[in-house]
Amino acid sequence: MRRKIVAGNWKMNKTLSQGLQLVDEILSAQNTSSQVLKIIAPPFTHLSSIAEKIKSKPDFAIAAQDCHHQPSGAFTGEVSAEMIASTGAKYVIIGHSERRMYAGDTTDILIQKLNCVLAVNLNPIFCIGESSEERNANTHLEAIRAQIKDTLFHLSAADFQKIVIAYEPVWAIGTGITATSYQAQGVHDFIRTEINKKYGKTISDATSILYGGSCNAQNAKELFSCADIDGGLIGGASLKSTDFVSITNSF
Ligand code: 13P
Repeated sequence: MRRKIVAGNWKMNKTLSQGLQLVDEILSAQNTSSQVLKIIAPPFTHLSSIAEKIKSKPDFAIAAQDCHHQPSGAFTGEVSAEMIASTGAKYVIIGHSERRMYAGDTTDILIQKLNCVLAVNLNPIFCIGESSEERNANTHLEAIRAQIKDTLFHLSAADFQKIVIAYEPVWAIGTGITATSYQAQGVHDFIRTEINKKYGKTISDATSILYGGSCNAQNAKELFSCADIDGGLIGGASLKSTDFVSITNSF
């Protein structure tokens, strides 16, 4: 059975000491379910220290928020997938809409990043999602199909099984406008069906598909009760321990 996952994408928030305090608060919460994998995605600068804190906790893992698309070399200021792996992190978020929007991550670059991540045995959390224009024009499913087909469907079945997918409608990110459970389930079901057509039922049934976009302690339960929603990729609400813990308990 596929894994239930709640991942906190801190984006560019929290100093190191604030981040360590947040992790301490999450770890000391008495009521977290060990059935749910909790992934914390802090800034690069915090990866090693936070990985050290959770290393004896099998239901916790660390993710980086991005990586460079080349394995190594003269790329001042960049961080490679291999460096991320050396910190103890196990996941890398790839294709977040903020990176597509502000950092020029094209389909071509995303494919290279995926290859770098898979080459060092890290697991990609691959983000896809339509814009508000696509949703309003009712072309969102075609947009989603193109994103998965163009970036993921060249992968072998063995590599594809390492991927967690995050459906994050761009219009829902940081806006307070959450997709309804009906809208989110519709897209998750569509994604799983596309995976089934390409890789077969065993793999599509085993792929965790997370929802992201203004998911919070109030709406997580309804979203996570949907058949094809296996958890969430949480932005703003992952910055407060009580909210994050409450979301992890929303299955
Ligand atoms: P918010 O939860 O703040 O809307 O952000 C979602 C997101 O982008 C997670 O990657």
